[in-house]
Amino acid sequence: MKETILKKFAEVFGDTDGARVYFAPGRVNLIGEHTDYNGGHVFPCALTIGTYGVARRRTDDRLRFFSMNFEDLGVIESSLKEIKPSREAGWTNYPKGVIWAFGEKGMRVPCGMDLLLNGNIPNGSGLSSSASVEVLTGFILKDFFGFDVSNQDLALIGQYSENHFNQVNCGIMDQFAIAMGKKDHAIFLDTASLQYEYAPVRLEHSKIVIACSNKKRGLGDSKYNERRSECEKALEELRQKVDIRTLGDLDEETFERYKDAIGSEVRMRRARHAVYENRRAVRAVEALKNNDLEQFGKLMNESHVSLRDDYEVTGVELDTLVEEAWKVEGVIGSRMTGAGFGGCTVSIVREEAIDTFIEEVGRAYKKKVGYAADFYVVEIGNGPCVL
Ligand code: GLA
Repeated sequence: MKETILKKFAEVFGDTDGARVYFAPGRVNLIGEHTDYNGGHVFPCALTIGTYGVARRRTDDRLRFFSMNFEDLGVIESSLKEIKPSREAGWTNYPKGVIWAFGEKGMRVPCGMDLLLNGNIPNGSGLSSSASVEVLTGFILKDFFGFDVSNQDLALIGQYSENHFNQVNCGIMDQFAIAMGKKDHAIFLDTASLQYEYAPVRLEHSKIVIACSNKKRGLGDSKYNERRSECEKALEELRQKVDIRTLGDLDEETFERYKDAIGSEVRMRRARHAVYENRRAVRAVEALKNNDLEQFGKLMNESHVSLRDDYEVTGVELDTLVEEAWKVEGVIGSRMTGAGFGGCTVSIVREEAIDTFIEEVGRAYKKKVGYAADFYVVEIGNGPCVL
């Protein structure tokens, strides 16, 4: 990969003098979905697939961007002083957003750069290609200019830029999982305090298999924001009765005792998901620590049911992938992962069952949905690095 992208960099930008090669992973969340903006726990891990980048400093303030994933867009040019927050979907708004966010945090980027990217995260799959680009950019800026920031800061800056530059109201999970990734470990993160713990993922003779629905997100972002405000409203209503800061402060019993304070049935279900899912994430990590993979899988399945019925972020594509997966012998657990409304599912599958899994789930999906899903057997990898 390093040679390929250096070669391309030379082709696009003339030569490779002063250029350095970087990598930042994608991520998959094992359990704890839609809990990160509710003060709950998440349990994601970084992947060995991600975004490769070649970058070099310039002596002027020009910014030149090129992505091998969007070659037809050619070189996209801008300059440091032209950067301003934008909701437009263009990919350069992610690196631009991070450059802007560093400035907002008092770390002014002193000169422009040439940046070429090549990602091997399937496009629009919900494996956080955008957070990967954000963390990669932050890592490059730190390396270039010696900014005094930790990897955790890079996660926070990435989220800040996505919230305020790209105006997507995401939580901290994606950027944190990517910036703090550790090979063969998932990150048990309390999003209320940012305390975290690495838990070894010992799957014995099983693997993590991602099924990508190939459904474009479409309305996803607006629905995401809608779920956020439903939860915020439910929290406000609960706070009339019980002294909590976030939905993550509630256990199941306390929630059941006070849930009538929530003024609508829909909001009650949204909050119920947030509360129960948070507790499920905690229990799943315990199960993994006790090498109880079966219990871990069961909790993954319950997570999907809750996301389908209470949180309503699945849809026929993700439900088909998961429900067909549950039928295959050797599947330990399967659920949607990420924001939902399209994107991917994550399954833990015994090695000897992987081929059957891909064949059977793939066939049933195509029959029901009309187009094919893609499958990836993935490994858990490290955070960002220089190559
Ligand atoms: C997206 C967001 C995350 C998180 C998940 C749902 O990936 O970027 O912050 O909220 O959805 O768990």
